[in-house]
Amino acid sequence: MCFKKKVKLYFSDSLGSLKRRLWPYKQVFVIYDARVEEYLPKLGLQGKPAYAIAATEENKNIKTAYEACKWLLEQGADREALVLAVGGGVTTDIAGFVAGIYKRGIRYANVPTSLVGQVDAGIGGKTGVNVSSFKNMIGLIKQPEFTWICPAFLKTLPEKDFLSGSAELLKTFILEDREAYEQAVDLLSAANRAPAAYGKLIEKAARIKARIVGKDEKENGLRRILNLGHTYGHAIEWYQHIHADEAPLTHGEAVAVGMVKAAALSEKRGYAAPGLESKLRDDFRRCGLSVDFPCPEQELEEAVAKDKKAEGGKINFVFIEKIGKVKVAKL
Ligand SMILES: NC(=O)c1ccc[n+]([C@@H]2O[C@H](COP(=O)([O-])OP(=O)(O)OC[C@H]3O[C@@H](n4cnc5c(N)ncnc54)[C@H](O)[C@@H]3O)[C@@H](O)[C@H]2O)c1
Repeated sequence: MCFKKKVKLYFSDSLGSLKRRLWPYKQVFVIYDARVEEYLPKLGLQGKPAYAIAATEENKNIKTAYEACKWLLEQGADREALVLAVGGGVTTDIAGFVAGIYKRGIRYANVPTSLVGQVDAGIGGKTGVNVSSFKNMIGLIKQPEFTWICPAFLKTLPEKDFLSGSAELLKTFILEDREAYEQAVDLLSAANRAPAAYGKLIEKAARIKARIVGKDEKENGLRRILNLGHTYGHAIEWYQHIHADEAPLTHGEAVAVGMVKAAALSEKRGYAAPGLESKLRDDFRRCGLSVDFPCPEQELEEAVAKDKKAEGGKINFVFIEKIGKVKVAKL
């Protein structure tokens, strides 16, 4: 049986237009990243109960979620309440989780303010928190009422976080849209950071993710392709964490290196024609992304081998046949 889940997205050029999306909800409780506080009045959220969190990976834990639940209770949030998450992926992951567990589940909506959030984290309903250094170990899948996407937030996004999102944007297009991929490379390599220039590409990428999730919410099949670049990307993040790297790659940058590795393996297996790896290397470099392992590759192979063991000897790996087409096969 084919089960399709509705994933609702709204796109806007103007911060002021969020208000009308909130009209149907009598009680709105905002959980937001303290770094984006300046946006709350611009979004028309003044006067609404609002709870700030320090959006870091260290704070993305069960204690922060518990404190937010306590705040909702103190504010008198009932089962009709809507939690509105305003922030990057850390914030939308936490707030979605809080909405999933508070009073056994209330509604929530996402207003992603980072590029990662707008093309990836704010869409698809994966919510959760970390357990010590293990990412997203507690969580649930719960679809937001809607995800409201406005590129105007990107004006204040730090460069390294913008780069992180660029990698996720490129990843999405490698999955199924070669033309958009080339447009994104051109735009990113021109170092044009004007939010308006990205509107159409963000919308395209967000719709691709929503469509994939709509077909396979629980990641039993198709949704796995979203993990392109993540096998080696996660291994890099793990390595940098255990070596307390002082300037680690962001998640997106690590995924970019992982995609280059995926291209190399795809050529080696004969899934892709020769030249794919070097094309990705050139394109990603032009966009300011890392392309080489920041550590000895052998050590990462050990991490991947460990993962493989944990998965029963095989990993579902996302190979690239060509830009715009991928396939999942055992590694
Ligand atoms: N749920 C999912 O499907 C999914 C998918 C991908 C990533 N994630 C999660 O998302 C997180 C990464 O997302 P992220 O990169 O958005 O992280 P983030 O929330 O930490 O945001 C990155 C940084 O940018 C700041 N920031 C966000 N928007 C800003 C703005 N408009 N102006 C100025 N600063 C701003 C934040 O305070 C933070 O310092 C990870 O925790 C990851 O596990 C979840």
